[in-house]
Amino acid sequence: ELLSIGVDIGGTKVAAGVVDEQGNILARQRKLTPSRSPRAVEDTIVDVVTDLRREFRVESIGIGAAGWVDTHQAVVAFSPHLAWRQEPLRDRLNERLDLPLIVDNDANAAAWAEYKFGAGIGSAVMVCVTLGTGIGGALVINGQLFRGRYGMAGEWGHMITVPGGHRCECGNRGCWEQYASGNALVREAREMALANSPVAARLLEMAGGKVENITGPAITAAAIQGEPTATELLADVGGWLGQGIANLAAALDPDLVVIGGGVSDAGDLLLVPAQRSFHRTLTGRGYRPEALLTLARFKNDAGLIGAADLARHSLLEPPETA
Ligand code: BGC
Ligand code: NA
Ligand code: ZN
Repeated sequence: ELLSIGVDIGGTKVAAGVVDEQGNILARQRKLTPSRSPRAVEDTIVDVVTDLRREFRVESIGIGAAGWVDTHQAVVAFSPHLAWRQEPLRDRLNERLDLPLIVDNDANAAAWAEYKFGAGIGSAVMVCVTLGTGIGGALVINGQLFRGRYGMAGEWGHMITVPGGHRCECGNRGCWEQYASGNALVREAREMALANSPVAARLLEMAGGKVENITGPAITAAAIQGEPTATELLADVGGWLGQGIANLAAALDPDLVVIGGGVSDAGDLLLVPAQRSFHRTLTGRGYRPEALLTLARFKNDAGLIGAADLARHSLLEPPETA
């Protein structure tokens, strides 16, 4: 059996694991994404991989990176949330890790895991939207990840949803991920708390009275306990999410939309408002088949499972190299 290591590098966390051919995670490691320096991120990857290899014999490594990866699966051209700018990540890591290694976009990796082992099995045109620090996107058409000509398709988090809206880390304003992501959720909640909004009082109290403790998971936990403001904030994110998915459906006509990433831990508190706004904004509604919106099965593990599987695949069918 071929074991692979998958490493998912998000704006906040590095999650890694040893994954078997069926997509099971046999061992895992988790760290905070160190700082914004590419070198520190590289060191963290080498650390977690080295630890995991102490106990398992693995044949390949897949990196899911929160950025725009080239067609050779080697260079991170750009990342809004990390400091990668034309970063030759594959070669840098190859100098330190003696195993076949590929780099792919984190959301592509997550979508691949869901398509192959999870919520997307059997879908013909599957759109994936992951809500974490930003919004990740991917498209699987007839069993193949659609990468675009230069490897950078699926960046729908940066479609401009609100002209002149919130500034995005990509440099533009009003990107979708400024309204429907973990960061958006936290920004709104903290703004309310900082403004001493009476409706945020309970949420702030649940966070121990500290604005900086109002994190995505804290908001989700509060909403699950029935706290109304947290519930509303998640419903707002769901509203933006559903509307954006309706736009994607206008463009791509999928049969399935898989919603993943950390914010999807909120389950129906996110999904139901998203479905509602999707049905309210889908063009041609009532006269066309509608895509099913569903939650990712592997939640936050999807990225590492998919990265590992993509690496295993590339052993069999290596990606074109420069
Ligand atoms: C980046 C994507 C990434 C996503 C999720 C976005 O801001 O542009 O490349 O997949 O965040 O991490
Ligand atoms: Na992508
Ligand atoms: Zn943007």
